[in-house]
Amino acid sequence: MNKIAFTGCVLIAFCALQFVNSLSCYTCYSPEECKKARVITCNEVSANETRRELEHYHRNVPNITSNIYECLSLTYKWYSGYSNLIRSNISIFGCVYKDLNSCSLIAAPEISSHNARYCYNCHYDKCNGNPAGKLSSSVYTIAATVVALMLAKAYA
Ligand SMILES: *[C@@H]1O[C@H](CO)[C@@H](O)[C@H](O)[C@H]1NC(C)=O
Ligand SMILES: *[C@@H]1O[C@H](CO)[C@@H](O)[C@H](O)[C@H]1NC(C)=O
Ligand SMILES: *[C@@H]1O[C@H](CO)[C@@H](O)[C@H](O)[C@H]1NC(C)=O
Repeated sequence: MNKIAFTGCVLIAFCALQFVNSLSCYTCYSPEECKKARVITCNEVSANETRRELEHYHRNVPNITSNIYECLSLTYKWYSGYSNLIRSNISIFGCVYKDLNSCSLIAAPEISSHNARYCYNCHYDKCNGNPAGKLSSSVYTIAATVVALMLAKAYA
């Protein structure tokens, strides 16, 4: 019997593109680290670092730079079957290059089944929520209500 994987991708595009130079984002690269996320100013160094983290879990991450940044909030929640949440074991928060389209990346095979992706990009200071705080769950709730794209894939 095929395993059915659901990838829920929640995307919020906050309208205003900011061309200002300084954007700062909550930054952490694991659920453990996200209990105490740092706030980091976006630049090539911090965007490259998030890009390297994304490469661990995705295929074909574009090798690009640009001077337009956004904040990323990305969590993969591990499910068994349709609805039995086991744990969220991947969290990537930080500065990203806008052109990376970080919420549309192709997940690596080992995380593409039994996982739901919760992801959004945004463009003002610390808009990716405090991953440790209550803000993040309310942002997810709003995001899920506003725009939810569910992708279902069957794996042999
Ligand atoms: C960021 O990554 C790009 C592309 O790999 C590279 O060309 C650039 O030198 C890096 N910048 C820094 C500050 O590490
Ligand atoms: C990414 O691009 C930079 C500069 O264009 C290059 O130096 C680097 O080797 C590239 N890295 C990969 C993994 O392709
Ligand atoms: C996530 O958790 C599941 C269940 O414990 C585990 O099988 C899987 O390997 C984990 N994935 C990563 C990338 O850590």
